[in-house]
Amino acid sequence: MKNTRTNKYNLGFFPTPLHTLKNVSNKYSDYTIYIKRDDQTGLASGGNKTRKLEYLIKEAIDTNCNVVFTAGAQQSNHCRQTAAACAVAGLECHIIVKGNEPKQYQGNLLLSHLLGAKIHFTSNYNKEIDFNCHISALEKSKKAYVIPIGGSNITGTLGYVEAMKELKLQLEEQHVKIDYLFFPSSSGGTQAGIMLGMQLYNLDFELIPIKIDKDTNEKSELAEVVLDLVKEGEALLNLDTNYTLSDIPLNRNYNEAEYGVLTKNEITAINELALKEGVLLDPVYTGRAFFGMLDCLKNKKIKENSTVLFWHTGGLPALFDYANGLK
Ligand SMILES: Cc1ncc(COP(=O)(O)O)c(C=O)c1O
Repeated sequence: MKNTRTNKYNLGFFPTPLHTLKNVSNKYSDYTIYIKRDDQTGLASGGNKTRKLEYLIKEAIDTNCNVVFTAGAQQSNHCRQTAAACAVAGLECHIIVKGNEPKQYQGNLLLSHLLGAKIHFTSNYNKEIDFNCHISALEKSKKAYVIPIGGSNITGTLGYVEAMKELKLQLEEQHVKIDYLFFPSSSGGTQAGIMLGMQLYNLDFELIPIKIDKDTNEKSELAEVVLDLVKEGEALLNLDTNYTLSDIPLNRNYNEAEYGVLTKNEITAINELALKEGVLLDPVYTGRAFFGMLDCLKNKKIKENSTVLFWHTGGLPALFDYANGLK
């Protein structure tokens, strides 16, 4: 088995806290609710990408690259954390972002700028983004490492495989057995890592990944992306799961609004966790996923008297770009 631990460049503070949500648990009294705080990974305000970037940045350095390219939305948490990781590792960071340059930078975009990323705005943006035109413009002395959108290739996925070992140890230490794990799923790497890690470390609970992006007819549908990453991971980690598409869990009940569109659902979730626990969610990912979890608790869509974990994957800086909708 590939030793995942030695293939990292340390960027974050781990383990992230695992603790109960006492006041939310009191409200939904049929359930005990825990939260895993990957909003506290520490890298330029944290988030799930820190775990992936520890593996990606190591690979960039090991392959003698001195420039990193990645892409995302203007409020991409992934781009902001990549910019921070590159600053730490001394790599030049280029981020390709969707749309025209705004007059005023806010939230993650502002932070990516402060973290030294060279930001390229493009209206010609899609999931199969072409980095080559940017790479070919580099000086000869520069060698580029490309991180896909969301850091979701097999290298990044290893970050969440390792996260499951961390979770297992914490659950054992705290004598907690969880029945359900809720988290947002978008580019697939977090989910694939969680699924592989569950297998590798013999964890047994039901996954409820909340699909963030609206469903499309595109071929590279999220479940297929997750399955491909899981299959790649199985080979790398010597696992034998024989998963097929129907084994990839994905809850599609909360993705009716387009990606990044703030609705009353996300606002309800953000308000509830802020007011009851002093914990801030983000408007795009964790707000949507936490709402999904609250809906399942409120309407008893999962079995009563169970223990539930919400994995907080970060995203706080994006709140500042949604000030109008939130106040
Ligand atoms: C805060 C936050 N949560 C969740 C996700 C989704 O993770 P993944 O893309 O690995 O599915 C992202 C992705 O950008 C994110 O920024």
